[in-house]
Amino acid sequence: MRGDNHLPAALQGLRIPAVASPLFIISVPALVIAQCKAGIVGSFPALNAREGEGEHPLLDTWLTQIREELDRHNQANPDRPAAPFAVNQIVHRSNTRLERDIELCHKHEVPIWITSLGARVEVNEAAHDCGGIALHDIINNRFAKKAIEKGADGLIAVAAGAGGHAGPQSPLALISEIREWFEGPLLLSGSIGTGDALLAALAMGADLGYIGSPFIATKEANALQGYKDMIVESGADDIVYSSLFTGVSGNYLRGSIENAGMDPDNLPEGDLKTMNFGDKREKPKAWKTIWGSGQGIGAVKDVTSVADLVDRYEREFNAAWKRLQRRMA
Ligand SMILES: Cc1cc2nc3c(=O)[nH]c(=O)nc-3n(C[C@H](O)[C@H](O)[C@H](O)COP(=O)(O)O)c2cc1C
Repeated sequence: MRGDNHLPAALQGLRIPAVASPLFIISVPALVIAQCKAGIVGSFPALNAREGEGEHPLLDTWLTQIREELDRHNQANPDRPAAPFAVNQIVHRSNTRLERDIELCHKHEVPIWITSLGARVEVNEAAHDCGGIALHDIINNRFAKKAIEKGADGLIAVAAGAGGHAGPQSPLALISEIREWFEGPLLLSGSIGTGDALLAALAMGADLGYIGSPFIATKEANALQGYKDMIVESGADDIVYSSLFTGVSGNYLRGSIENAGMDPDNLPEGDLKTMNFGDKREKPKAWKTIWGSGQGIGAVKDVTSVADLVDRYEREFNAAWKRLQRRMA
């Protein structure tokens, strides 16, 4: 990408200005490696690497595997090096593994650290100490200011329509309020389902798009076939915003709620106090097949490889840019 030299080195030189976001359960090394090889930042939540009692930390094994595989790729393809990878830390008091996982990420010199559900000085310091950068995700301007005060290098603005714990605000409002005071790296999360939407994120003032749900419908994603198929078959109308399943409002596939025997239009409120985002996070049995997704999945027409999905984004992004230039000429 041209015009990215205002960004930290880890976010420069991407094929398109995009980070593939971390997805609980779904982001495993095969997905992350394919995303990085395709030229965009790949990522996973540290908590996805869960070893059995008394076993060697799976996170250690995953980080070694990702590094080795990307090194091999870079040696074989010096003209097309892989993008860096990122690890997501859930900075919530229920995450009892946080300290250990920070140590492992520090040991492996993880280049990009993504923090969610809390901003903590010591996590940012650990990232900086090993040469990494820290990006914190927020849903409003107040949390954005807090994150930067606590030492984050950049922000991920999670707007309405995002998969997972989406915020309620319009991306247009959120990005413009943050850009009034913050010139650093700013990523936009929520419904970036096409290259056109990615270009729109840049036009708004974001530096990069942060893309999640479309990667669920890829061959490399660790998701059930039924989940991948439902992403392909669904559109924005099929997304339901509810706090029932984790206590924090998030977006879910209507079909998965119906399949679980519930009425998506009459869901009770969730209770944040009883919720757990930690390493022992398990969904109650009745919610095992409640599937998360953002609204931007209308453009996902089939289950493809990550390489094909990133190719599509690049084609659309370039075409949208040309179209806009013609309009403005
Ligand atoms: C199934 C699913 C699981 C997610 N898990 C996480 C997670 O573990 N950590 C996190 O920071 N964000 C998580 N997210 C949020 C995404 O990282 C990202 O903000 C969002 O998917 C972007 O919006 P989009 O899905 O519309 O592209 C998840 C999203 C989905 C759909």
